[in-house]
Amino acid sequence: MALNVVLLNPLLFCLEIFIIFIGNGACVEVTVPNDPVMQQIGSAMEVPCHYKTSVDKNFMLEWRFAPGSTSPDLGKQILYFTNNVLYKPGSQSERLSLLHDPPTLGDASIRLENVRASDAGTYICEVNNPPDFYGTSSGLIHFIVLIPPSTPVCKGTTSVAVGSDASLTCSSSEGVPAPVYSWTHLDSKITLPLSNMVQNEQTGSLLLTNVSLEFSGTYQCVASNEYGHQSCELSLHVTGIAGAGAIAGAVIGVLLALLLFGAIVIYAIHHRKQKMNKKPQSEYSMNEIREDATAPGISESSLQRRDSKSERLLESVPSRPGSASTTKSQLNHFLV
Ligand SMILES: *[C@@H]1O[C@H](CO)[C@@H](O)[C@H](O)[C@H]1NC(C)=O
Repeated sequence: MALNVVLLNPLLFCLEIFIIFIGNGACVEVTVPNDPVMQQIGSAMEVPCHYKTSVDKNFMLEWRFAPGSTSPDLGKQILYFTNNVLYKPGSQSERLSLLHDPPTLGDASIRLENVRASDAGTYICEVNNPPDFYGTSSGLIHFIVLIPPSTPVCKGTTSVAVGSDASLTCSSSEGVPAPVYSWTHLDSKITLPLSNMVQNEQTGSLLLTNVSLEFSGTYQCVASNEYGHQSCELSLHVTGIAGAGAIAGAVIGVLLALLLFGAIVIYAIHHRKQKMNKKPQSEYSMNEIREDATAPGISESSLQRRDSKSERLLESVPSRPGSASTTKSQLNHFLV
C-alpha cells in the first residue's frame, strides 16, 4: 500500500527515481491546467505549460497539436526548442510564439494570435531532458474556440390553410457554445395562443398547430450564445378555407354577368318605351292593340339578340308571321 501511494505521486516517484539513480539529475515535471482553455475567435490565446527540471544542453521542448476531436496521439508538431533554437513547423507558425523565449526557466507556455475556429483541439506540451532516466513528461490542454452564432437560416412553411399546422426551422451553421434559438411573431399586437406554438430552443424548430388567420405575419428567429446573436425572418401566410377564393371568384363572375344582362334588358325596355312615347298616337292607333299584344314575345326574342349583330335581327323579322307592321316598328327602334 505504502509503495503504491509513493508510486502514484509523481513528485515522490520522481524523488524515488532520483534516489535510485543517483547522479542522473532531476526528473521532469510538467504542469498544465486541467480545465479546458477557452478563447473567443479573433482574440489571442495563451496555453500555459510549466515544468520543473534542471535544464542542461540536452533540454528540449515540444508542442504538438491535434485539431478538433482528433486523438492526441496523432498530434502534429507545431513548435520545438532544442540547442537554443526555436522551430515552428505547421500552419500556425506565424501566429504562434513562446511567452518566454528561450523557454528555459520553467515556463513553456505558448501564445497564439488571432484565434481561428480551426485552432480548437488538443495541445500537448512535452519537455525532454536527457539524460534523465525518466526525462520526459507531457501535459494535455484542451482548447475551445468560442464563436458567436453565424446568421441563422429560417426555413419552413410559408403558406398554410386555417386549421392546419406550420413547421418552421432555424439553424446557425456556426456557434460555440451551441446557440440557443428563440422564435417570436413580429408585427402582431395580438398574443398568439401559446398552446398552439411549440418551440425547441436547442434545435430551433417552431411548430404552429391549428393556425388561425392571426398567425399570419413575420416570424423572427434569434440565435444566441454568450458571444453574440444573429437573426433571420420568415413570413407565414394563413389562407382561408381551401378553394374559398375560387368559389368567391365564380360567384362574383356570375353576379356580374347577371348584372350586365339585367342592365341590357332595362336599357332596351327603357329605350323602347321612349320611342313608343315619341310616336304620334294617330299614326299607329290602328296597330296599338296588336302591338301591345305581340310586344312581350317580340321583345323577349329580339332583346336576346340585341347584343348580336342587327343583321340577324333583320333576317329573323320576315319569318315572324302576322306581325309585319309591328315588328317593323320594333326594328326601327333598334336600328335608330
Ligand atoms: C382549432 O381552433 C378552433 C378555433 O380557433 C377550435 O374551434 C378548434 O377546436 C381547434 N381544433 C383543434 C383540433 O384543436
